[in-house]
Amino acid sequence: MIVFGIETSCDETSAAVVVDGRTLLSNVVASQMEEHARYGGVVPELASRRHVEQLIPVFRQALAEATCTWADIDAIAVTNRPGLLGALLVGTSAAKALGMALKKPVIPVHHIEAHLYANWLAPTLASPNSGAGGADYPSVALVVSGGHTDLFHLRGHGDYVLLGRTRDDAAGEAFDKCARLMGLGYPGGPAVQEAAERGNPKAMTFPRALLPGTHEFSFSGLKTSVRYALQGENLPPIADIAASFQEAVVDVLSKKTIAAANELGVERILLAGGVSANTRLRAVMQQRCDKAGLSLFYPPVALCTDNAAMIAAAGYHRLIAGERDDLTLNASAQLPL
Ligand code: KG4
Ligand code: ZN
Repeated sequence: MIVFGIETSCDETSAAVVVDGRTLLSNVVASQMEEHARYGGVVPELASRRHVEQLIPVFRQALAEATCTWADIDAIAVTNRPGLLGALLVGTSAAKALGMALKKPVIPVHHIEAHLYANWLAPTLASPNSGAGGADYPSVALVVSGGHTDLFHLRGHGDYVLLGRTRDDAAGEAFDKCARLMGLGYPGGPAVQEAAERGNPKAMTFPRALLPGTHEFSFSGLKTSVRYALQGENLPPIADIAASFQEAVVDVLSKKTIAAANELGVERILLAGGVSANTRLRAVMQQRCDKAGLSLFYPPVALCTDNAAMIAAAGYHRLIAGERDDLTLNASAQLPL
């Protein structure tokens, strides 16, 4: 079954063609990052306008790269929640128009569920940890993106128990805000990672909010500590501060995820969302999972950040579970998974 995926929830206009929720025929991502970087973050109005401009060229490219025509497409999957409302409406309106014109089912997809399903896309040599056949239920999944830090117990398709989430900033938000404080630019995650590669992670001791007895997270105290540290005198190099900050985030994320898996007796851990592209998070999680006898899965870097292949993959699983939409589907800025 061939699913055409559409993603426009934030600042990436993306379309993809995916077979059976697993094999990528194409995955085109037009990023608006450079434009938003001027403002230090995503400007919602600008994002919607760029989606309108980019959508049709991105659709055409996704079909061309997959050497498909619309006639080959069995269903359309589209992110309809959560995200920037204006941005979501561009994608959902296009999906409904396509569904109507092609007489094909349209599947609304939750963006966070889609991040999880990036783990079901076929493994690549570059990222052997990813992939169908390995990523399975039951598992504990850590979704770390710009807007979310959610820990789930995945019991089966559509059967997810939210164990805990962040009480304040999301992990990606902490990377973005602290990068800004350190003068490292936007988006913060990749910038901090790059600076951290040259720094000493033990140069500074930043607080780790472990919140014992809960599966919740908190990163606002860490952000405040970074702010105060930067106001001090005799500062170590920014690379050291970046490495120490990254180490604190990675330490908390990995400890809490492994503790949840141990507590539930689950042997599989999945990482998802933009922050799961972080090389230090992947390395520390791998070391600690190996030690604890747990299997670890994460998507290839290109499929960690927003993309339409993951939307098509999640849509496929909803489709085979018998879900269809009657074209009354709507966009929603805030809806929990
Ligand atoms: O999943 P995503 O592309 O969009 C949302 O759904 O939010 O995640 C974006 C977030 C941003 O906060 C970005 O700074 C962070 O993911 N990110 C990273 C890395 N790459 C992206 N954070 C840490 N290390 C990275 N390599
Ligand atoms: Zn995302």
